[in-house]
Amino acid sequence: MENKNKRETFSTGLAVFFATLGSAVGLGNIWKFPYLLGSNGGGAFLLAYLLCVALVGIPIMACEFYIGRKSRKNAVGAFKELKAAKGFKTIGFMGVGSSVLIAFFYSCVAGWVYSYVFRALKGDFVGVTAATAKTKFMTTVVGPFPPLVWQFIILAVVSVILIAGVKNGIERITKTLMPVLFILIIICDIRALTLPGASQGLKFLFHVDFTQLTGPVILAALGLAFFKLSLGMGTMITYGSYFTQDNNMISTSIKVALADSLISILAGIAIFPAVFSFGMQPSQGAGLLFMTIPLVFSQIPFGSVLLVAFFLLTAIAATTAIMSVIQVPVAYLEEEKGIGKKKAVLLTTGIIMLVGILATLSADSSSVLGNIHIIGKRGFFDSFDYLSSNILLPIGGLITAIYIGYFVKKDDFKLELSNGGTLNNYAVLNVVHVFIKYVSPILLVIVFLNSIGVIPSLLKLLHL
Ligand code: PHE
Repeated sequence: MENKNKRETFSTGLAVFFATLGSAVGLGNIWKFPYLLGSNGGGAFLLAYLLCVALVGIPIMACEFYIGRKSRKNAVGAFKELKAAKGFKTIGFMGVGSSVLIAFFYSCVAGWVYSYVFRALKGDFVGVTAATAKTKFMTTVVGPFPPLVWQFIILAVVSVILIAGVKNGIERITKTLMPVLFILIIICDIRALTLPGASQGLKFLFHVDFTQLTGPVILAALGLAFFKLSLGMGTMITYGSYFTQDNNMISTSIKVALADSLISILAGIAIFPAVFSFGMQPSQGAGLLFMTIPLVFSQIPFGSVLLVAFFLLTAIAATTAIMSVIQVPVAYLEEEKGIGKKKAVLLTTGIIMLVGILATLSADSSSVLGNIHIIGKRGFFDSFDYLSSNILLPIGGLITAIYIGYFVKKDDFKLELSNGGTLNNYAVLNVVHVFIKYVSPILLVIVFLNSIGVIPSLLKLLHL
């Protein structure tokens, strides 16, 4: 009880919004969204993605906020506090596990981004061509030492912010940096749109070719929606636990989902015109961001300043997102294990650094550990990504929806999400509840079956 009273919360509704957006917006928007869109048919993928955000993302986010704010606890403690049946606590533990797994590879990619800020500042990309952009990316990734040092640096930065605490750390950083990020990305878009042939990139991004809207594309979009909105692993439970008592959590879910999707689209507008303008392939995978952006700014006045700005923006987004990932185990260790904040942060980031080495040294097939296969043909890096994003997050989301839809009284749910009835939003809550009970779980089962390969094999079997 004492612990509960001392607990920090965000100070205002605006702070809640920016902190939550800070978790959602990250490498998922700027790195993962463009490359998945590039490999999955452009506009068709975008349409499927937006539908998934609306049909699954928003309802599940509301569930996580409910669990967090009502219990005012970490991802594991929340289920205890709400007296959920024992099995449900497993979602909390899974969340702690998934967050650490995500942090292993996320800190690696964030390290590449930090190194790009530094290289851009040094003028390393002056006169870059499509071929040299690729070589520069490969040297960054393969290392072996520089990427490890950058990974260490990002984890050190995050540790300092998290030790500063919820109000001074997470809140202050996100409230200042989120608006900057938005302005920077708009500047990048303006440049990208003035490239010769920009319209081809826009067409790729926005033109929906319905023949591309295949089962696997829809399913890939659903998986990304999950990762993007930081769902299924306790992050939004943990953040919900810091929400103010008067926050309208349904409207926060909707606003965060909309703003997050807008930023993904703006990132797409910065990248795809360049892909076409420089004769590159949209489907070149994880290096897409790193190979195109230096080219976007290579031949224009102030290009090098804008390049620094773009990677700085990405570094900011990656930092605020990984902070929220790491806050999950930290809050757990503090509240459930009674470990002091500083120790909890350092213990968590220390483990992430140690095991994260495996991710960083296996990011490409030519990396030092690139030939070791863990899950199927995937190395450490890809296995951490696969296991967390494709398996653990969908299961976490599904169990969360089942818990709220079938084990929490509908009236309790409505009472909390209407702030004791003061918001007068029962009609909306009834609709949200139908989504939580029926629509989202069904779609999540589909994502999960897809991620373990059942649906693709089925489709193949049926010759679809
Ligand atoms: N949503 C973040 C992004 O898009 C990643 C993330 C996943 C953060 C899961 C927290 C939890 O980059």
